[in-house]
Amino acid sequence: MFDSKIYVERRARLKEQIGSGLLLFLGNEESPMNYPANPYYFRQDSSFLYFFGLNMPFLAAIVDVDQEKDVIFGDDVEMEDIIWMGLLPSMKERAALVGVAETAPLAQLEETIKTAQQKGKTIHYLPPYRPENVLKVAQLLGIEHDSVKKYASKEFIKAVVAQRNVKIPEEIAQMELAHEVTYDMYFAAMKMAKTGVFEYEIVGKMEGIMGASDCHMAFPIILTKNGQILHNHYHGNQLEEGNLLVMDSGSESPMKYASDITRTVPVGGRFTEKQKQIYEVVLQAQETAIQNIKPGIMFKDIHLQSAAVIASGLKEAGLMKGDTDAAVQAGAHALFFPHGLGHMIGLDVHDMEDLGEDFVGYDHTVERNSQFGLAYLRLAKKLEPGHVVTVEPGVYFIPALIDQWAAENKFDQFIDYAKVEEYRDFGGIRIEDDILVTQDGSQILGKSIPKTVEEVEEITATG
Ligand code: GLY
Ligand code: MN
Ligand code: MN
Repeated sequence: MFDSKIYVERRARLKEQIGSGLLLFLGNEESPMNYPANPYYFRQDSSFLYFFGLNMPFLAAIVDVDQEKDVIFGDDVEMEDIIWMGLLPSMKERAALVGVAETAPLAQLEETIKTAQQKGKTIHYLPPYRPENVLKVAQLLGIEHDSVKKYASKEFIKAVVAQRNVKIPEEIAQMELAHEVTYDMYFAAMKMAKTGVFEYEIVGKMEGIMGASDCHMAFPIILTKNGQILHNHYHGNQLEEGNLLVMDSGSESPMKYASDITRTVPVGGRFTEKQKQIYEVVLQAQETAIQNIKPGIMFKDIHLQSAAVIASGLKEAGLMKGDTDAAVQAGAHALFFPHGLGHMIGLDVHDMEDLGEDFVGYDHTVERNSQFGLAYLRLAKKLEPGHVVTVEPGVYFIPALIDQWAAENKFDQFIDYAKVEEYRDFGGIRIEDDILVTQDGSQILGKSIPKTVEEVEEITATG
């Protein structure tokens, strides 16, 4: 946990940002796998962690803006808990760690909310993403469960985003810790990309490295020789020479800050000429984007710049044709690069996505574009020092999408469909790093994981 002062200051800022009322924070509960005493790995809600630091289930908290006080609701362990789980610190002791003096039993939360409502106070809450918390909000506030999302407080969401957007050095240090583990994961995984190895063997190795470092995965590992499936979680394929293996994974630091890295390697350690050419295009798109990141620039512009690099690289390969700028403006490149360049990262791998992507990645200066490809851009707004973003361009050959576009002759002034057909079984390539926006530019987080053609071939060929 950070020093208690950090949590106190964060809550004080919330009180300044929000005029009046009660701010309700619901922590996460244990989530049963098959019966209640057999839960999944527990992960606290990130906004709860950010403002109240405690990574344990069955907690709630209130920031009373008018009375300027913070209360954590939770129950002390009873004898039955002690028998099974041992003696645990009291709620008072835990609350003191994050600078909160007042605690109350969880059962008192409802009464506190009702009393405030009777006094005409606004109860601000964030949009819950777990079903049990949707039901809890509905019950606590006396509203229908299907109205819970609609009535979430925009003022509260914006105040939370304004703070969590900008990472302080203590948070960057946590993200660096996550990257240390991620470096080890990739160092081991890249060496394993050999003929005959099953994808799940590499996934198991990566998960083991996280566990052995007291870390957990930030999201389920994407590791596949079918990299054209963007978020492919199937790990049952056996690798063969000639496959391209996409590995997209990240760990959470002990304090739950995430990393998110992607590397694509040739199974056996040698890219074919065709693979190498497309790999260099993706790498150039990624490096150009990273070089261009600095405070004051719109991330949407960085996205479009890397799309232009991809379009001109694909033109050189004979896959695209015509005027590159016009192709990008029309969205023709999205046949190959159908997703956004990146997203915010912090306590969540897609940071604050539960609060609504448009509140995190967009603001009054930039609206989401509905064009295919650009519509998936999670982050478009202006970058500021302290933002941490991913940069993850890719080129994919998605047979179903190719067939659909070809049948429609879509953008055939920009796409050579006969040439594309030669790449039908190519798979996909994505390269991803996490970038801190600094006062005058940017910094890549973590030690450099092999990325150039030579580096990737070298590490993959050794073992
Ligand atoms: N790991 C999912 C992503 O890169 O967004
Ligand atoms: Mn990723
Ligand atoms: Mn990512």
